[in-house]
Amino acid sequence: MMNPTLTTLLNHRSIRHFTDEKLTAEEVTTLVDAAQHTPTSTFSQQYSIISVTDPQKLATLGNITGHHWLEDAGHFFLFLADQYRNSQLITATPRAIANLHSTDKFLAGIFDASIAVEAMVVAGESLGLGSTIMGSVLNDAPQLIDLFHLPELTFPVFGLAVGHPAEEPEQKPRMPQSLMHFTNDYQPLVADDPTLAAYNQVITDYYQSRGKQQREETFSHHIATELARDPQQRAKLNQALEYQGFLQK
Ligand SMILES: Cc1cc2nc3c(=O)[nH]c(=O)nc-3n(C[C@H](O)[C@H](O)[C@H](O)COP(=O)(O)O)c2cc1C
Repeated sequence: MMNPTLTTLLNHRSIRHFTDEKLTAEEVTTLVDAAQHTPTSTFSQQYSIISVTDPQKLATLGNITGHHWLEDAGHFFLFLADQYRNSQLITATPRAIANLHSTDKFLAGIFDASIAVEAMVVAGESLGLGSTIMGSVLNDAPQLIDLFHLPELTFPVFGLAVGHPAEEPEQKPRMPQSLMHFTNDYQPLVADDPTLAAYNQVITDYYQSRGKQQREETFSHHIATELARDPQQRAKLNQALEYQGFLQK
């Protein structure tokens, strides 16, 4: 079963090297339009997007994420969870304002931003553009809040570097569906699961065959490495969430 939409979705890979060509204003508007047409929780449109074009701000983002290549992308978008706009629309009821500070509404902003960013990724790919989502903007949330003058009830969620691809990386193989798509009941991994062992081998082969950064790595080892990172790097997150007025009940 195949059609152009599925072809685009199934051909996805993150792109981290771009040509010098910047996105046109029309391309930027089209990508934002695609993002805007995603479903949003309770039709509250609880996210915003900042286009970052200031070279100094891009350089700061390069420092925060460690991804200096974002400075050469065709365009950079910063996605925010945003309950501030809606707080400005309601002046009357204290209960409604209090609701905007809740965990529920924080999550709603995260959901809306997450769905919107992926629509932008796919829309870009349908136009021949490549991109990488960057959660690493959260390495320094307080600095982002300062840099972009983010008001209370907003929070940075991720960046998206978009541009004309200057690489065609191999696709990263996904796990077999039997490990992540269940029917009616959750299925934990079983010890020495042969499907997992086979997938670990697929990932080892992927890293060994890929052109650069060759390394020996199974999926299990990859997860262990990711989780061994020092949580202190994101220690300011809770404080920043509190500062922005989120998670109050
Ligand atoms: C929420 C989120 C945050 C991500 N953050 C980063 C990031 O900070 N830096 C980066 O290089 N890639 C980032 N990625 C991209 C993933 O590394 C990438 O999607 C994953 O390795 C699978 O590769 P693929 O997209 O090429 O299939 C992020 C992806 C998601 C969904």
